[in-house]
Amino acid sequence: MLINKRQYRSIWLSSDDDRLVQAIDQRELPWQTVIIDLKTSDDAFNAIRNMAVRGAPLIGVTGALGLYLATLEAPGNWFDKYIAVRAIVLKEARPTAVNLRYGVDRVYHAISKEALPYNKQQVAKAEALQLIEEEVARSEAIGRHGVEIIKTISSRKRGACVNILTHCNAGWLACIDYGTAMAPIYLAKQLGIDIHVWVDETRPRNQGARLTAWELSHNNIPHTLIADNTGGHLMQQGLVDMVLVGSDRVARNGDAANKTGTYLKALAAKDNNIPFYVALPTSTMDNTIEEGSAIPVEEREQEEVLKMEGRLGKKRVVVDIANPGTTAANFAFDITPARLITGIITENGLCLPEDI
Ligand code: MRU
Repeated sequence: MLINKRQYRSIWLSSDDDRLVQAIDQRELPWQTVIIDLKTSDDAFNAIRNMAVRGAPLIGVTGALGLYLATLEAPGNWFDKYIAVRAIVLKEARPTAVNLRYGVDRVYHAISKEALPYNKQQVAKAEALQLIEEEVARSEAIGRHGVEIIKTISSRKRGACVNILTHCNAGWLACIDYGTAMAPIYLAKQLGIDIHVWVDETRPRNQGARLTAWELSHNNIPHTLIADNTGGHLMQQGLVDMVLVGSDRVARNGDAANKTGTYLKALAAKDNNIPFYVALPTSTMDNTIEEGSAIPVEEREQEEVLKMEGRLGKKRVVVDIANPGTTAANFAFDITPARLITGIITENGLCLPEDI
């Protein structure tokens, strides 16, 4: 997708040096576009843990590339043991998005068929690069299926503006390219459909305010930022035609984990008869988990709730926003039950949560 009219992906292997992974450092957005270098599996781990890269498909790809980097640093005398340990460590970088396990395991299983370290390195690289292309293709296909829903709403409204509410960032930054929830929106824009996006700010890390709003402006999509609690009011006023969000893990029964606050939007959508769609690649489905209650919900540092990061002129500032001495809880995700989900959009098409 576009940054200042130039095409980017959110992560790539350097074309000059195939031992160097590069990614957009999302912690610096929207104020500056900074590229970080990942040279070791530790760099990949830290980029995931510290949220320089974030979003389920991107975390998965970073994990896969991280294991490739591990094959380059593994000592010859205990190569296999080292890789096994690094795979475990990488998978522990963040707990909720199942894509991390998926990406690391893909590379791990691919290289376990090879005997020689050099061959393992080559196969790890090829597998991680293939995963990148697969995720891009999945996002593109999600866009094609999802845009049909937007088209239907647009014709029902006789071409009047379709208002879509989204939460967090499920755009190209989170997904290498196109996005999951954002992919149908980008395609609708290309097709000339009149659309407008309500962007939840997504406290505490403000992925909506900082990332989704940034993506949408660079791609010329009309959007309005709202405080997280505003969606219910907009729905009651008839100002939302559909809710479209991403997901970090979907259980076998169709329950979907997504950024905290998503569940409340689903409840409000149900109460107002507004369709609530979840867009995700099949790499976000966890067939080993029966119900959403078994999905691990990440708890992060309380500082993210107690403080706010921003810019004052060119300076990065972090300010206290709560009563000194008050403690905070920071559950980063919540689970939307399948019964509140109108449809799930994957690269294979649109289905009901009970059909996945
Ligand atoms: O904590 P994050 O920013 O990594 O959260 C993950 C997400 O980006 C969202 O939950 C998103 O809506 C699903 S991932 C495309």
